[in-house]
Amino acid sequence: AHPQDLAGRRIVVSAGGTREPLDPVRFLGNRSSGRQGVAIAEAAAARGAEVTLVAANLEVPDPGGCRVRAVSTALELRDAMTEAVAGADVVVMAAAVADYRPATVSEAKIKKVDGRDHMTLELVRNPDILAGLGASPHDGTLLVGFAAETEADPVRLLELGRAKRRAKGADLLVVNRVGWTQGFAADENAVTIIGPADEVVAEASGTKMSVAHGILDVVAARLPDGDE
Ligand code: C5P
Repeated sequence: AHPQDLAGRRIVVSAGGTREPLDPVRFLGNRSSGRQGVAIAEAAAARGAEVTLVAANLEVPDPGGCRVRAVSTALELRDAMTEAVAGADVVVMAAAVADYRPATVSEAKIKKVDGRDHMTLELVRNPDILAGLGASPHDGTLLVGFAAETEADPVRLLELGRAKRRAKGADLLVVNRVGWTQGFAADENAVTIIGPADEVVAEASGTKMSVAHGILDVVAARLPDGDE
């Protein structure tokens, strides 16, 4: 049994990776499986929290005990988050959100053109959802962001995480290294959690479930005393 140290808390977790449509049959996507975010949602529910999972194209089953809002694109994810975060004690942005989306979505399947060997796609910026939450008033809501970086040097990896926490206005930032075989689809993970003064608050490694509990240990310790 887990400690019920999140009882009475409302936690919103985004997980998975967004898909940005090009036409009715194609999209631009990423390799995020949703495993780490789903593990956080499941672990939070096991610790007594009331959890809303905003789920973008998960490759794993929905966790039990959570309210699930399925989305696909970055804009849908933003709208679902905006609705879900009202009154939340904790927001964990674990989803991999596309930075850009196709400028236009074709109504019909895009055809290849004989004799044309190159094609250029025009993309436009997506809103930064976490930065948007960080920049607007969020008193009483602990904001947790993620940084998935391919940087191999651990010192530079931490620096990227610190800069990201500040840029996004997050309270905590979870840094993990990703690559072709590391991070996204893997069963295990290793993360470093950076705090509000840019300090390393904790490190966690092992299964994504044990990393989830490690992250929630830090979250639980930082919540103001509740009335439970
Ligand atoms: O800038 P970068 O994508 O590395 O930042 C990662 C963090 O920001 C993650 O917490 C991710 O969920 C969030 N993010 C976001 N909206 C975006 C891009 C990233 O909320 N458009």
